[in-house]
Amino acid sequence: MTEVQRSDKIEMITLHKFLIVFFGLLLFYDYYYTTVPVVARIANPKFTLLGPYNTTEASTDDVYDQLIDIKNFSFKVNPQPCQEYTAGILLVVIISSNPLNYDNRVIIRNTWGRAIESTKVVFLMGEPDNVTVAQKIQNESINYGDIVQGNFVDVYRNLTYKHAMGLKWVTHHCPMAKYVLKTDDDTVVNSYEMRHFLARELSPWGAKNLITCQVLEHAQAQRSDNSKWKVTTAEYANRYYPTYCAGWAILYSQDVVRRLLKAAQSMPYFWIDDVQITGICAQQIGVARTPLGNLILSWHKANLLTSLGPKYTGTFIFGPPDLKSAKIAQIWKAIPE
Ligand SMILES: *[C@@H]1O[C@H](CO)[C@@H](O)[C@H](O)[C@H]1NC(C)=O
Ligand SMILES: *[C@@H]1O[C@H](CO)[C@@H](O)[C@H](O)[C@H]1NC(C)=O
Ligand SMILES: *[C@@H]1O[C@H](CO)[C@@H](O)[C@H](O)[C@H]1NC(C)=O
Ligand SMILES: *[C@@H]1O[C@H](CO)[C@@H](O)[C@H](O)[C@H]1NC(C)=O
Ligand SMILES: *[C@@H]1O[C@H](CO)[C@@H](O)[C@H](O)[C@H]1NC(C)=O
Repeated sequence: MTEVQRSDKIEMITLHKFLIVFFGLLLFYDYYYTTVPVVARIANPKFTLLGPYNTTEASTDDVYDQLIDIKNFSFKVNPQPCQEYTAGILLVVIISSNPLNYDNRVIIRNTWGRAIESTKVVFLMGEPDNVTVAQKIQNESINYGDIVQGNFVDVYRNLTYKHAMGLKWVTHHCPMAKYVLKTDDDTVVNSYEMRHFLARELSPWGAKNLITCQVLEHAQAQRSDNSKWKVTTAEYANRYYPTYCAGWAILYSQDVVRRLLKAAQSMPYFWIDDVQITGICAQQIGVARTPLGNLILSWHKANLLTSLGPKYTGTFIFGPPDLKSAKIAQIWKAIPE
């Protein structure tokens, strides 16, 4: 073998080694970034993500016709949009809705809640105490098939029944949803970014112990007569509420929904639903709440978005609350696809 041939051979071996290492790294990189999602935009995630080989238990022992202290609960209207998705669905959105907010529902159906891939949307309601309104709701429900209605009176102080009914409906009728978003009918969800956030940044297989939202800490129970949130010491004895989520947008993983329902079913009724479900019940089942921070659109940023465009706001997944229907439409129009 001449010197030239030998050095050729060495070069060949080095090249082979290099290629093997290179493609190995490439494969590893690909594997790593497609199987271990990086939760880049959440500072301190207090949940775990699921992969293709681990799932959470889907069975439930919930008593179907009990809703907290209502012993003869039933769904008056009970659509089944999840039924065909036996293999699973990424997200179901349950929207706590006031029967009178027809305009909001129409806007939501035409904007962020319109039929998008791998997402189902329903509105939660009780029974309106006004016959005319009740008839309108019945009509609306026939036309759109997206109203879940329970047999309790739809009044403000019954909002905890509405939230718990949403958890019950998901547990029994949409247990294949990986994530559950509970919102109100006066906010906007960036459905494009939400889907991306769930399927890419979190995991398409779902998560465990996930409650994420705008987290409120050290909130005091309001005792003053002129507060909309006035609570007597008989209703709630402590001075402070536990840490809880602002109720207008809360993202749950499926396992948490079942466990929160179970806790809510056996606890005394307290009418402030976000405190009760995401504070008291979440504490009982031992699930920490993860703040979403910058992923929530503030009022200020919402105004920047509609006046100057998306460059000035960064990405967001939902917010702000208390929007009029026209504002929902305006914000939606400003969101890039
Ligand atoms: C699921 O499996 C992944 C790895 O495949 C692991 O990182 C994760 O912690 C597991 N999650 C749970 C809830 O067991
Ligand atoms: C449910 O029970 C309550 C009290 O026990 C009763 O007032 C109400 O009429 C019942 N509702 C139905 C739909 O049976
Ligand atoms: C019921 O609602 C209708 C339409 O919203 C309203 O005109 C009517 O006064 C209400 N009736 C009662 C009894 O409140
Ligand atoms: C019922 O729905 C139809 C079709 O959307 C509408 O034309 C009609 O006015 C509605 N009736 C009532 C009582 O709201
Ligand atoms: C809440 O709903 C229940 C069941 O329909 C009803 O008995 C109760 O009066 C309602 N609460 C209020 C404050 O109206």
